[in-house]
Amino acid sequence: MVEDIEYQEALKKLKKYGQEHLLCRYESLDDEKKEKIINQIKNIDFDQTIELFNIANKSIKKIDGEISSIEYVDKSKLSKEQYEKYYNIGKKEIEQGKYAVVTMAGGQGTRLGYVAPKGTFKIGGGVEKSLFEALSDTIKEARNKFNAKIPWYIMTSRENNNATEKFFEKNDFFGMPYEDVKFFKQGELPMLDTEGKLMLDETGVIKLSADGHGGVFESLVKNGYLEDMKKRGIEWVFISGVDNVLAGLVDPIAVGLAITEGTLATGKSVVKRSPSENVGVFCKRNGKPYVIEYTEITEEMANARDDKGELLYGESHILTNLFNIKALENIAQNKLPYHKAFKKAKYMDANGEIIKPEKPNAYKYEAFIFDAFESLNSMSILRVKREDEFAPLKNAEGEDSPNTATQLYINYMERKTKGLID
Ligand code: UD1
Repeated sequence: MVEDIEYQEALKKLKKYGQEHLLCRYESLDDEKKEKIINQIKNIDFDQTIELFNIANKSIKKIDGEISSIEYVDKSKLSKEQYEKYYNIGKKEIEQGKYAVVTMAGGQGTRLGYVAPKGTFKIGGGVEKSLFEALSDTIKEARNKFNAKIPWYIMTSRENNNATEKFFEKNDFFGMPYEDVKFFKQGELPMLDTEGKLMLDETGVIKLSADGHGGVFESLVKNGYLEDMKKRGIEWVFISGVDNVLAGLVDPIAVGLAITEGTLATGKSVVKRSPSENVGVFCKRNGKPYVIEYTEITEEMANARDDKGELLYGESHILTNLFNIKALENIAQNKLPYHKAFKKAKYMDANGEIIKPEKPNAYKYEAFIFDAFESLNSMSILRVKREDEFAPLKNAEGEDSPNTATQLYINYMERKTKGLID
């Protein structure tokens, strides 16, 4: 039960920020929802919300600063000696139990037209494996190969956490020991209408949405998993999205490269397929590592070529990045910038009616993991083969769809069976 004093305090806070409309449906809510909205009001940082809205009113983020291309090491072009050197350095770290994997599975499979958690999506073509199962196979194989624990931390969202955990239980954690698979929910932020007002969702409480995968650092800390990693003696944490069925999750070369180059992170890249491919690209901004997102790159930059005729900004960021635990600790101490997106968002109006807009009506705010790279000052870039490490599942049909990802997965497995991949 909400005490009258708690209600009054919540109302006072809302009035201060001009958001008292949020309590207009309060009397029609059941006790549980009443408690929920009062708690939301208590916990939301309204100063930050106003700040976010002001960002939203500025024009789209420009690529400012001095942009230049970034140096990389091509895994397939390493000499035998170099390869062995990096491999042995990385192998030792992994064997000593210093390696963990984080999978970011908090996003919605909207573009894929799939309503359940994206990781539960089954690739077809006779493979019939879910994305989670395919990723767990990669981790299990490495656990055997390196005779090491390699714990797996899975970031979910409020919406898909229960369904994700149930899926793992139903599948007996794909044979991974329970104590080495941990789930944690990512953070959320309020959505704002075009006037900067917070909104009610279909159930009458404040409408929140996932704060983007850049929230992974803060969520790891808040949920006690950075501490858990430290207790386990983890030094290297590989973080990637759930939607790349070929993600090379356990990579001794990436570790060996970072240690050799004296950096605290290695980002893996593949050569950009064409100037218009929907991938971010690695580059340097004011001499520091940076990713220009595909929604933000200019035509001119996307098409620029070097004197060999290769794309100047052609090292695609495939959302598979390795961090040293010290880097994670430092990054988690500072807030990353938020990117705005204008979306269609269902909401409840003051009369209690559910409005399903035909056009975008609300701002959503997301932090991107790669905005943390600049704070590292330097990072290693490891170019890998697309056919070995990048089979994304983004769209229902066409490029980066279940069909293309399945085919890439089948081809990869064939090459592996023939011993063409280690
Ligand atoms: C992303 C990258 C892009 C990269 C491409 C490679 C962003 C903004 N851009 O694009 O630089 O080239 O992948 O495939 O990520 N996720 C969460 N929580 C969230 C949002 C996303 O866990 O709040 C997870 C998703 O589950 C997914 C991954 O992050 O696994 C990628 O998100 P998505 O929004 O699909 O990114 P893309 O636009 O494909």
